[in-house]
Amino acid sequence: MSKLQSVRGMHDLLPGEAALHARLERAWTRAAEQFGYEEIRLPAVEPAELFRRAVGAATDIVAKEMYEFADRGGQPLALRPEGTAGCVRAAIQHGLAPNRQQRLWYRGACFRHERPQQGRLRQFRQFGVEAFGMEGPDIDAELLLLGRRAWRALGLAPTLRLNTLGDAAERAAWREELARYFGAAAGRLDEDDRRRLRDNPLRLLDSRSPAARELLPDAPRLEAHLGAASRAHFDELRRRLDDAGVEHALDPTLVRGLDYYDRTVFEWDGPGAGAQSALAAGGRYNRLVEQLGGRSTPAAGFAVGLERVRLCVERAPAPGADAYLAAPGSAAAEAAALRLAERLRDERPALRLRMNMDGGSLKAQLRRADKSGARAALILGDAEAAAGTVVVKPLRGGGEQRAVAAADAGAALAELLEPEDGESWP
Ligand code: HAM
Repeated sequence: MSKLQSVRGMHDLLPGEAALHARLERAWTRAAEQFGYEEIRLPAVEPAELFRRAVGAATDIVAKEMYEFADRGGQPLALRPEGTAGCVRAAIQHGLAPNRQQRLWYRGACFRHERPQQGRLRQFRQFGVEAFGMEGPDIDAELLLLGRRAWRALGLAPTLRLNTLGDAAERAAWREELARYFGAAAGRLDEDDRRRLRDNPLRLLDSRSPAARELLPDAPRLEAHLGAASRAHFDELRRRLDDAGVEHALDPTLVRGLDYYDRTVFEWDGPGAGAQSALAAGGRYNRLVEQLGGRSTPAAGFAVGLERVRLCVERAPAPGADAYLAAPGSAAAEAAALRLAERLRDERPALRLRMNMDGGSLKAQLRRADKSGARAALILGDAEAAAGTVVVKPLRGGGEQRAVAAADAGAALAELLEPEDGESWP
């Protein structure tokens, strides 16, 4: 008798891995709930037609990777390859979306028949958030702030790439131009790229084939077709992100592999190469609710691939400390720093605070702080000692340093370190 094994690309989560997954889910749940998102639980099986209409019949996800089957009654079903379509279906079915604002989060297994490799599975877990009924760039910005909060809680700082795909008419004009441009070089394209050219020329922009990559630098940009409203939406989103200190890179080749997006699209990439570096991705989809039979409702959201995030967290060195106290001043300032350290350890017994030893310049001390893996540094030099303050400096995930009264150092650290389960400390 042959040995029974788990299906290729569908893995067991053994106790250590399951605990890490639970931690990731807690971090994302907490971030979503901090922004007032509410949980929705959705079936893993949906009518196959839902994904054809939502994600797009010609997309790789639906045409090549979807698990489709007829059940015993002959009903055509699919294991969900992603969460958005089902969430929109549920919102329409239960009247959650029309004429009101709705913020939802969900998590669960998704299935895609891809070639398995590290970070690419046939069953993987997504955590997603979707916001309905809000059309301004402010909700796009909120989604990205929510993401930043969760990444920070996990000690990760993935790069955020951002693009706009304009509205349907703007995109149609761009698509035509792309079809002409790549069409002129069709002889150089491989079979997959020729299929993309036929089905959706936008997808050639993120093709990995050498021929398509060579053509990329001169490929037409959406920029020329972008109307005033789409441009204003994108500019305003970027202004808000700059205002909130959310670092992002513009990427005019970011097009996404699902057909439902309008205007804003984004992706957070972790370290590593290729398609597997995308830890989370999403964007705005203003037409989807109507396309699936609901009343026209603007919407936006994103989903995180938890296995990919787990790989990053596992690779990141386990930090030896939460915070590092630098004391680059005179003996008196050092004594004040030592008193502060002891007070913080009394106040917050779960805080792992490492104090700088053997002096050194501020730069050298901050280098040690960085090496310790701590997520924040406290700096108490002569100026701070004289003023009764301390500088709180985030070391991971961006953010500005600020001076606070020494008495408030613990509270400032608590705010910055975002304990992900809300229980550890403070
Ligand atoms: P997606 O980019 O197809 O978007 O998937 C989101 C995330 O799921 C990816 O960034 C990746 O981390 C993870 N993922 C996708 N495929 C696999 C795989 N085979 N193995 C492991 N992880 C994978 C969506 O699914 C959209 N529904 C996102 C969204 C929500 N847009 C608006 N709202």
